[in-house]
Amino acid sequence: MDISPLTKIVGVIGHPIGHSLSPRLHNNFYKKLKLDIAYLAFDVKPAELEKAVRGMAALGFIGFNVTIPHKESMLNLVDEVEPGAQLVGAINTVKIADGKLIGHNTDGQGFMESLKRNDVNIRDRHIVVLGAGGAARAVSIAVAADGPKRMTIVNRTFERGRHLAFSINDKIGKRLAKAASEIPRDADIIINTTSLGMWPDVHASPITGYSLRADTVVCDIVYNPRKTLMLKQAEAMGCKTVDGIGMLIGQALRSIEIWTDTKLDSGAWNTMQEEIEHI
Ligand code: ATR
Repeated sequence: MDISPLTKIVGVIGHPIGHSLSPRLHNNFYKKLKLDIAYLAFDVKPAELEKAVRGMAALGFIGFNVTIPHKESMLNLVDEVEPGAQLVGAINTVKIADGKLIGHNTDGQGFMESLKRNDVNIRDRHIVVLGAGGAARAVSIAVAADGPKRMTIVNRTFERGRHLAFSINDKIGKRLAKAASEIPRDADIIINTTSLGMWPDVHASPITGYSLRADTVVCDIVYNPRKTLMLKQAEAMGCKTVDGIGMLIGQALRSIEIWTDTKLDSGAWNTMQEEIEHI
C-alpha cells in the first residue's frame, strides 16, 4: 500500500474488533481499484466513543463504519441521520464532510442487493425473518419496502418479535407483519438474522427439526462460516440458498459510495467478491 499525505483515511470502530475482516477486504479492494484510501480498525470502548468520533473528524477521516456495540449510540453523536438509518434506529456508516457527520445504514441495502444478485424476488412472497435484533430490523425494513405479500417474525423472545412486527407495520402503514413462535410451512423466503450458526457456534441452526418445501428460498446473513449448518440443511431439502457474503459485499460497496460520492459499477461487486475468496 502506497500511503502519502494525501491518502484518505476510513475505518471501523467497534468493541471488540479483532475478528473484523473489513480492513483486509477494503484495503485489498482499494488497491485493485487504485483508490488512494486506507482502512483501519479501532477497538473503542463505549466510554471513549464520543472522544474517538471527534478525533476522527478532527483528523480529517472521510468516514467510518460502526459495528457492535456502537450502532445505536452513534445516533446521538452525528450531526444528521439519513432517513433510512433513522427508520432502522442504528448507524453502520458515517460520512464526514466539512467537519459534519452524517449517519447512514447500509445493511438493508446490502442485503437487498445480495438478493438481486441471486435472482431472489421479494414481491408478493411470504417472507419469514428469524430474529428480532438490530440486524433483523435493518433487513426487515428494507424487505418490507419492496412489496412482500406478508412477513412473519420468528424470534426466541416472542415479545421482541412482536415489537419488530409492530414497528414494521407502523413504518409501512399497513398490517404486513406479525410475530410467530414457529416457522410457518407456507414461507416462501426464510432469512436468518440471528447469530445461530456463526463461528464458533457452527453446529447450531434455526431450522433444525423443520421440513421445508423445496421451493422455499433460505438466506443467511451469517458469513463465517460461508456455508452455515442452516444452509446445508436447506440444500439437503432441495431449497435454493443465499449465503451472507453478498450482504457483506453490498453494505461495504454502499459505504464506499457514500464516503467517495461516487457510484461504483457492477464490476466492483465481482472485484470485491474475488478479494473475499482470497481472504
Ligand atoms: P444484532 O444486532 O446482531 O441483530 P442482537 O440485537 O443482539 O444482535 O440480536 C440477536 C438476535 O439473535 C435476537 O433476535 C436474538 O434473540 P432474542 O431476542 O431472543 O435474544 C437472536 N439469538 C441470539 N442467540 C440466539 C439463540 N441461541 N437462539 C435463538 N435466537 C438467538
